[in-house]
Amino acid sequence: MNQDLYREFKQLFDKKAANAYFSPGRVNLIGEHIDYNGGLVMPCAITFGTYILVAPNDDMVFRFRSLNFDEKLDIPVQAGYVKTGETWYNYPLGIIDYFIKAGNEISGLDLLFYGDIPISSGLSSSASIEVATAYLLNDLFDIGYSKLELVQLSKEVENKFIGVNCGIMDQFAVAFGEKDKALMLNCDTLEYKAVDSNLGDYCLAIVNTNKPRKLAESKYNERVQECQQALKSLQQELDIQNLCDINESLFDKYKHLITDPIVLKRATHVVQENDRVKLAAFALADGNLVDFGQLMYASHDSLKNLYEVSGRELDAIAEYGKTNPDVAGARMTGAGFGGCGIALVKETGFENFKQGMMDYYTTKIGYAPSVYQSAIGDGVGILKQLENSGI
Ligand code: GLA
Repeated sequence: MNQDLYREFKQLFDKKAANAYFSPGRVNLIGEHIDYNGGLVMPCAITFGTYILVAPNDDMVFRFRSLNFDEKLDIPVQAGYVKTGETWYNYPLGIIDYFIKAGNEISGLDLLFYGDIPISSGLSSSASIEVATAYLLNDLFDIGYSKLELVQLSKEVENKFIGVNCGIMDQFAVAFGEKDKALMLNCDTLEYKAVDSNLGDYCLAIVNTNKPRKLAESKYNERVQECQQALKSLQQELDIQNLCDINESLFDKYKHLITDPIVLKRATHVVQENDRVKLAAFALADGNLVDFGQLMYASHDSLKNLYEVSGRELDAIAEYGKTNPDVAGARMTGAGFGGCGIALVKETGFENFKQGMMDYYTTKIGYAPSVYQSAIGDGVGILKQLENSGI
């Protein structure tokens, strides 16, 4: 693929690319809708992601091209930008806007993007393109932001420029991911540990519902707002900054303060899910995939019944998992409302799982899912200095 990209770049811009960057997507093993509540999450980077090839130009213009989308943009370097429509280039444009407004000297660039993360699949294609662009600008213009600052500014762009009030998990995972490691991230303190993913004779499967995610952004923001409401109610008597500052037994003593039944359901999910991540971390450290899998199923049920972000397509993935003895656990991953599920599957049973899942899902939903065996990969980085490569 790399060689093809370099050739495409040369054809499009009539010159060689100077540098190439890659940022992965992510899956979250457990800890869903927790990051914006200041709790624990356990994501890992995958090997699908976003590639960007770039060369500076002397025209003081940014030229955005993509191999995934027809829409392109040529826009002069200027004092700032606003989001236009729902096009893919809003993400890199938002990052450039941030860098310029922060007072960094940026000059014209020719940019070619290519992603192999299925779009709108809940595998964080947006965090991937944001972090890749931020990393690229930081590197090319020698700006000196730390990786954590790149993560934080990418999240800010998603919140303010794009308008999704996401937490920090996705940007963090795609930046700090490590091959064969899961990240145990405390979203309040941003302390993290890269732990051996320790899957033994199991492997990680990704099942894409192939359901277009409609209304996902507005529903997501609604959940964020419901959690803020729950926190406010608890703060009447508890001195806490985040819903995840309390465990379930303390929550039980104070949950009467939350009078709206829907908001109570949301908060119950958050507090219990955060506790589940702690148990999942122990299970993973012990290589106890059976316990880990049970926690995945419990997480899914809670996202279905209490947080109400699943749907019949994602539910079908967890349902099928329970019928297959080679599956330790399965759940939706990411924001929900369509997108992907994950499953822990005995490596020797993967092909059988894939066929069984395809059949079950297709019969139930009416169209086929996509099923992949996923490797856990590294976070963002430069691919290669191309200057003298001759391509
Ligand atoms: C999306 C958001 C993340 C996180 C997950 C749910 O992926 O971007 O910040 O909230 O949903 O866990």
